[in-house]
Amino acid sequence: MRIFSGIQPSGTPHLGNYLGAIKSWVETQNSEAYFCVVDLHSLTMEIDPKTLRNQRLELSASLFACGLDPEVCTLFVQSEVPFHAQLNWLLECVASYGELTRMVAFKDKSSRQEAQRASLLTYPVLMAADILLYDTDRVPVGDDQKQHLELTRVIAERFNNRYGQTFVIPEFSKPAFAARVMDLQDPTRKMSKSVSSPLGKLEIFDSPAEIEKKIKKAITDTDGEMRYDWELKPGLANLLDIYASFAGETPDQVASKFTRYGDFKTALAQLVIESLAPIAERYNALMTDRSELERFMRRGAEKASSVSEVVYARAATAMGLN
Ligand code: AMP
Ligand code: TRP
Repeated sequence: MRIFSGIQPSGTPHLGNYLGAIKSWVETQNSEAYFCVVDLHSLTMEIDPKTLRNQRLELSASLFACGLDPEVCTLFVQSEVPFHAQLNWLLECVASYGELTRMVAFKDKSSRQEAQRASLLTYPVLMAADILLYDTDRVPVGDDQKQHLELTRVIAERFNNRYGQTFVIPEFSKPAFAARVMDLQDPTRKMSKSVSSPLGKLEIFDSPAEIEKKIKKAITDTDGEMRYDWELKPGLANLLDIYASFAGETPDQVASKFTRYGDFKTALAQLVIESLAPIAERYNALMTDRSELERFMRRGAEKASSVSEVVYARAATAMGLN
């Protein structure tokens, strides 16, 4: 089973990234799994070059700290493998302008940004290139990426129909719970690196005091009933999802264990603190030896290049480029 997924180095991962994506990467990693720090994607929004440079390595270390094992799977930085940008161009010649303007993430991000980069529109094509370059069977991501994955499938099928069988059609995969972790201050919006307020987003390296404060202040409701109901009680449902995901239980089971919001929040904070503490410890240890990290990432990029080179050549040949 070939697995591929990616994450942008645009800030410290938050609970949405961890529970929606990274945790399942760790649980399903194998020798056929490729995970990518998608630095080219981070350029679709304003980002300081020094920040981007640092975050490429920091995010890689965070992913190892979360449990990706360089002896098991392949982790690499997107821009270190030239075939991503190259296949992107070929696929831009297959995708249509209309389908890109229909992407919800584009409409959402472009409505918030003053100077819009053309890459904000074309970014799902680069994502399709990322995935298709590895003959990927399954893409574990959060719910917000579902539409992009559907577009990837459409592009791949169109390519295969026009130019002959070239790409594997990938499947979307999301976790059973917490596939869309919501902002702790506004449970109608997803938790986001760029948009959520400091209290709305819980980062994986927040201190125990910060975690406690953010969970205690998380918006719930006033009826006081411990019940899992996304429709009527989204704030509580979000917290139950987070608990369930860390504890390996169902949200209904979690709801039945508590009667008061206060007790539930205290237990949740404790669970999150205990679950995240070892990650921070491993991260700090990894960051003491940057050259070792750089070695891992170089090896990852070499392995990813050797696989994606072949698929790129297949696509280029099919289109008449060699
Ligand atoms: P990004 O930070 O946008 O690069 O996202 C990296 C991964 O985290 C993707 O698989 C996203 O679907 C996932 N993700 C981002 N935000 C959330 C969220 N609020 N809830 C669940 N998954 C998320
Ligand atoms: N677009 C994804 C996001 O913003 C990140 C991403 C880029 C990705 N390329 C990918 C995810 C390939 C899965 C597969 O979250």
